[in-house]
Amino acid sequence: MKLAPSSLPALPALPALQFGCFVTGTDTDVGKTLIAAALLRLCVARGWRSVGMKPVAAGGTQDEQGAWRNVDVEQLLAAGNLPVTADDINPYRYREAIAPHLAAAHEGRPIEASVLLASYQQLRQQAEALVVEGAGGFMVPLANDVNGDDAGSHYGLDDFAAALQLPVILVVGMRLGCLNHALLTQAAIQARGLKLAGWVANRVTPQMSCFEENLATLQSRLQAPLLGVVPHLSVRHGMADAAAACLRLPLSGKQGG
Ligand SMILES: Nc1ncnc2c1ncn2[C@@H]1O[C@H](COP(=O)(O)OP(=O)(O)OP(=O)(O)O)[C@@H](O)[C@H]1O
Ligand SMILES: [Mg+2]
Repeated sequence: MKLAPSSLPALPALPALQFGCFVTGTDTDVGKTLIAAALLRLCVARGWRSVGMKPVAAGGTQDEQGAWRNVDVEQLLAAGNLPVTADDINPYRYREAIAPHLAAAHEGRPIEASVLLASYQQLRQQAEALVVEGAGGFMVPLANDVNGDDAGSHYGLDDFAAALQLPVILVVGMRLGCLNHALLTQAAIQARGLKLAGWVANRVTPQMSCFEENLATLQSRLQAPLLGVVPHLSVRHGMADAAAACLRLPLSGKQGG
């Protein structure tokens, strides 16, 4: 599969991380936030200054003060240990739970790559561990136009991930259809020259027919280590810690990017 190279600017050299990753998933609602929060809990347990980032969040609820909150952002904030705000880790937050570039158009606030990258760089200055959660799947569109002057150019989350050059962790929501979604996502990650550092089998549904066979199929076809199988969790509180207990961090020395 050939995809256009990222048209986002290369980042200047940044301090090395103890752990950094971009968490993507086979779809929306497959457990990216749960796994991102669990990875952060593992980083915090190691004593690292750890922070999550949700570059773009679509779907919010209004709090008593009238501010718009997003549940992913709140969960990532709770899982990390840096004194950062929702705006620090989430530069774009939209009200409607729809595709980000559509929410951006509806609210008249287009997603600017320079703003995403500046937020990321800010967090990199403060963190030893950084977990970036995508939105939806790997190739979700973010904007129709990178520079504002080229109607033919589009960019998406895959471009943003390529600009960060972080290893990617793929969350597979274990349900019917996930084999195709997982393999397409692996191909797209590889086509961007990014490293698939590991994947997580997340049991989003309590029952999946032929779970073990599906797991074995993925293990034989995904070219990255299985970091853990997260069971369907019945707890409502402490879910990130419960998931963390089923996961390991893929560590291979200090991570740049
Ligand atoms: N292993 C699990 N056991 C039980 N519930 C789960 C599990 N994994 C995820 N969930 C639940 O499924 C829902 C979706 O999970 P989550 O928000 O992490 O998905 P997501 O991929 O981050 O979605 P989005 O695309 O909106 O960011 C949440 O309510 C979460 O609590
Ligand atoms: Mg999420």
